[in-house]
Amino acid sequence: MAVKKLGYLGFGASDIEAWRSYATKTLGLMDAGSKRDALLLRLDSRGWRIGVHPSPKDDILYAGFEVENKADMERVAQTLEQCGVPIQRANPEELAERAVIDFVKCKDPSGVTIEIYYGASELYEVPFVSPAGVSGFITEDQGLGHYVLSVDDLEQSLDFYIRGLGMELSDIIDWQMNPEVKLQVNFLHCNRRHHTLALIQAPAPKRLHHFMLEVSSFDDVGRAYDRVIDQNQVVMTMGRHTNDHMYSFYGATPSGFAVEYGWGARTIEADWSVVRYDSISMWGHKFMGMGAA
Ligand SMILES: [Fe+2]
Repeated sequence: MAVKKLGYLGFGASDIEAWRSYATKTLGLMDAGSKRDALLLRLDSRGWRIGVHPSPKDDILYAGFEVENKADMERVAQTLEQCGVPIQRANPEELAERAVIDFVKCKDPSGVTIEIYYGASELYEVPFVSPAGVSGFITEDQGLGHYVLSVDDLEQSLDFYIRGLGMELSDIIDWQMNPEVKLQVNFLHCNRRHHTLALIQAPAPKRLHHFMLEVSSFDDVGRAYDRVIDQNQVVMTMGRHTNDHMYSFYGATPSGFAVEYGWGARTIEADWSVVRYDSISMWGHKFMGMGAA
């Protein structure tokens, strides 16, 4: 039994108003209002996809993985328990906060809260409208996007996500980040999105390296690139990745971790087999620093 897709992400942020402005004006997400001090953001018909919570942590707080129904949620919970992972049930208050029918939660080996839920809230009666004129975000069967974590123990983490959550390895990049540092990045999928999660074993100031949003057109990427250049917040220049073939750039968020903004990724097909790469990009993605944020 496997999770189907990434449904939502929760971030802790020391400056909620900076996030509100950045998420709407720069990323083009829709402000879905506040719930218990958290800023909720929409990028499609779902009631919310990203929750930004007041916290000095400025890092990922939780990731919500979607399953089809209650039976599937119980099966994933059972598998995790068989892997020795303690499972907690959500209380009514937590269910109201996430606006889902039910979820169970646990910690991944690095301490990130993972929620397995079903029954997200759809909001077709309030159409998604991007305040920055983004034509749309690619979600649906591919989920919210992807995110990349720095983990303490790669083997334990791979075991948790592959054996516990049922994800599969897409490929591996041996990334020579600079002359001194070589990192192995493991990319995992749970639907046809090339990767929903990537894991890097490396000491890092934050668990979350970046999260990725995929837009519907290359012009959406170009216009966002202009906005991020104007704000002096480019972390990596426009480029094309070797493994998912996505055209993207990276910008700094108000919490210090990065956001990847891309278009044109290839997807996992039936004849997929695991390969490895020596480089993260075919071209571009030149590191510019962590921006002004
Ligand atoms: Fe990425």
